[in-house]
Amino acid sequence: MKKKSSKIRLWPIFPIITERILSRKIGRYSLLLHQNSETILKSNLTHPVFEIVARIAAETNTQAFVIGGFVRDLLLQRDNKKDIDIMVIGSGIDFAQQVASLLPGEVPVRVFKNFGTAMLSYYDWQIEFVGARRESYRQNSRKPIVEDGTLTDDQNRRDFTINAMAIELTPDHFGQLIDPFNGQEDLKRKVIRTPLDPDITFSDDPLRMMRAIRFATQLNFTIQPDTLNSISKNADRIRIVSTERITDELNLIIQAPKPSTGFLLLDTTGLLQLIFPLFCELKGTATIEGKGHKDNFYHTLEVLDNVAAQSDNLWLRWAALLHDIAKPQTKKYIPGTGWTFHAHEFKGAKMVPQIFRALKLPLNEKMKYVEKLVLLHLRPIVLAEEEVTDSAVRRLLFEAGDDIDDLMTLCNADITSKNQMKVKRYLENFAIVRTKLREIEEKDRLRNWQPPISGEIIMQTFGLKPSKPVGMIKDAITEAILEGIIPNQYEEAYQFMLREGEKLGLKKIN
Ligand code: CTP
Repeated sequence: MKKKSSKIRLWPIFPIITERILSRKIGRYSLLLHQNSETILKSNLTHPVFEIVARIAAETNTQAFVIGGFVRDLLLQRDNKKDIDIMVIGSGIDFAQQVASLLPGEVPVRVFKNFGTAMLSYYDWQIEFVGARRESYRQNSRKPIVEDGTLTDDQNRRDFTINAMAIELTPDHFGQLIDPFNGQEDLKRKVIRTPLDPDITFSDDPLRMMRAIRFATQLNFTIQPDTLNSISKNADRIRIVSTERITDELNLIIQAPKPSTGFLLLDTTGLLQLIFPLFCELKGTATIEGKGHKDNFYHTLEVLDNVAAQSDNLWLRWAALLHDIAKPQTKKYIPGTGWTFHAHEFKGAKMVPQIFRALKLPLNEKMKYVEKLVLLHLRPIVLAEEEVTDSAVRRLLFEAGDDIDDLMTLCNADITSKNQMKVKRYLENFAIVRTKLREIEEKDRLRNWQPPISGEIIMQTFGLKPSKPVGMIKDAITEAILEGIIPNQYEEAYQFMLREGEKLGLKKIN
């Protein structure tokens, strides 16, 4: 790392700007408008790294810009995920090292020689430095052939007009917006459009097809018709992209405020069939003897949107996506009864690990959580339809544990009937279930509950080794508590254990 400059010189880097801040509401965001000049106000470039970049740019006579997502989000007045991309005409790595040497404290620089990039973390910000590049891609690989380029070359190779804008950081032009493809106008019109012919942009990097849909979903923008057509045309090229990167984009779509927007776009462009064919199987309805069933594809998307309106939890949203995933496999028409999807919750829960594996989602407690919610997703509804007994509520609490509130959110979201009377009845019954859940929880404290008598105690009492009778007695105690036959207390459970042991011909030895 380079030596720090001994004295911090205050550079007269910022031109005096008289522009008023103007902004306009566009959807969720407030778009920054630049009426008097093409200059971004200094007050908007407050991150300390910009001033240091400007200083190094002047000292080394290098042109430097902030480019991409940071600029887009700045103009949209949207929270940025704390990523800044600095592009310089020259070596990004050398430049990064010089910037790091001027930042207070020890700031390590991670260098990616192969990509010609360098990254530094400054508090919770990631700042990436790259030299301006031209890239060309080969037919069957995402790995580009990279050469040094000009600012224009670099902007040309970016994915969308709204992501191709740069703001100059070189002191003489500090704050100047360079927007060759009219990205500002596209922000105003809420449009996703590629800077070049979309066939070139997408075939250079097919992940961008997913990114187009992801940005449209996150920002509530539309995709310009030529760009959208090109996605349909090039969809097949998604096959050369790694599953991890596809799933990253899919997760961002799922985390958007209204994820169905993205799924419908993935579907109409043909991408969904390629990246998640199992989900497409939910599509369609059938009618026999005048009886139809709902289209589970659109139903699932409605449930997903409903959950998204209630919770930011990505895994709860995955549970919504997968709650009916086994319906196509379990679908049956029973004359006189109609359509059934018997045991789809069991089969669906069993399918979760294979889906997580195929999509390279984590195979950990998140997966277990999704499995559990898929398995239990009908239980509160069934409860609400039948008499809400204490023992049924106890059982549900016992099985759902701490995830009971999420399960109730999922179940509520699952009520998508168009029949208002039906919805009203469900919601009323649900209110009863919730009250009962609260009462039982207060009384019996069954969340994450362990029966008061452990397998250890059973073995010691009857002088048993780990064996079937131990499990039988333990299950009988659990059942008795859940059924309300005995209270959830040690002494009663102990006496019950003695009686159960006796039934099996066991004698108390301790
Ligand atoms: N980029 C691109 N093609 C890609 C990925 C990225 O052209 N496949 C360019 C875009 O100019 C983008 C910038 O690299 O703005 C930074 O990419 P990234 O950090 O992945 O996305 P952001 O645009 O910053 O968006 P977000 O922060 O929402 O991920």
